[in-house]
Amino acid sequence: MAVKTINTGFRSIVYRSGYIYNWTTKRLYDQHKKFMSIAKIIGNGSKKVLDLPCGTGFLTHYLPNNIIYEGWDLNRKFLIKIRKDWNRGKAKPKKIILKQNNIFDFDEYPDNADIIVFCDILHHIYPNHIDLVENAKNFAKKIIICEPVAVRPQDNMNGHDALARTVIKISKYFPERLIKILDFLFADNDGINSFEQRSCWKYNNESLKELYYHLGFNKIYNILDDYIGVWEG
Ligand SMILES: C[S@@+](CC[C@H](N)C(=O)[O-])C[C@H]1O[C@@H](n2cnc3c(N)ncnc32)[C@H](O)[C@@H]1O
Repeated sequence: MAVKTINTGFRSIVYRSGYIYNWTTKRLYDQHKKFMSIAKIIGNGSKKVLDLPCGTGFLTHYLPNNIIYEGWDLNRKFLIKIRKDWNRGKAKPKKIILKQNNIFDFDEYPDNADIIVFCDILHHIYPNHIDLVENAKNFAKKIIICEPVAVRPQDNMNGHDALARTVIKISKYFPERLIKILDFLFADNDGINSFEQRSCWKYNNESLKELYYHLGFNKIYNILDDYIGVWEG
């Protein structure tokens, strides 16, 4: 796979390896249920799915073979992990296109995508999330978003397994400065978006649903700390 290299800033350990990212996110969220649900909403017809950003491509494990999948992410290591999964048969779509692109490069969006998926990204790009979603509406008939209610342990996060729940419970008592250091080294620091902006994502169940409705996402499903929303144009 020829992926051009775009350098990003310092990334936490989680964003340095696709394996560590998958191990960590499985503890935090019910990945199986989440991506199964998104795949179910995408459905079985022959469609082109644009996954922005694709991360390690967990979604590809749940998509049917007849789908053309295009994933963008600035993290090159994650794209390479997807290609490895595809070679091993773990990533299911018959055709996979991977690009190390910025998701705000609207000029590069393909004009034949049926569905755009924004999973676990809006909280990374706050306060530009509304701009992203509104622009994306010009490029697909359906958009699926999936976000957690909060990303700071002090707020509404619970976690999926016992380890994640314990770490979150303990870190609720940590001062903000320590949280910032831990984020930088071991947590959600993707090397692209600042802690100050990411940590503004503070919703509860009701206010997150209100944001979804405000963006025109009328079908909403809850999975643990996550809400999936669907927009159809
Ligand atoms: C929490 S991960 C979510 C990935 C995937 N959608 C998932 O659910 O596993 C966030 C990803 O966004 C990528 N990212 C952040 N800002 C980006 C941008 N402006 N353009 C492309 N990728 C970006 C990071 O590299 C990281 O892989």
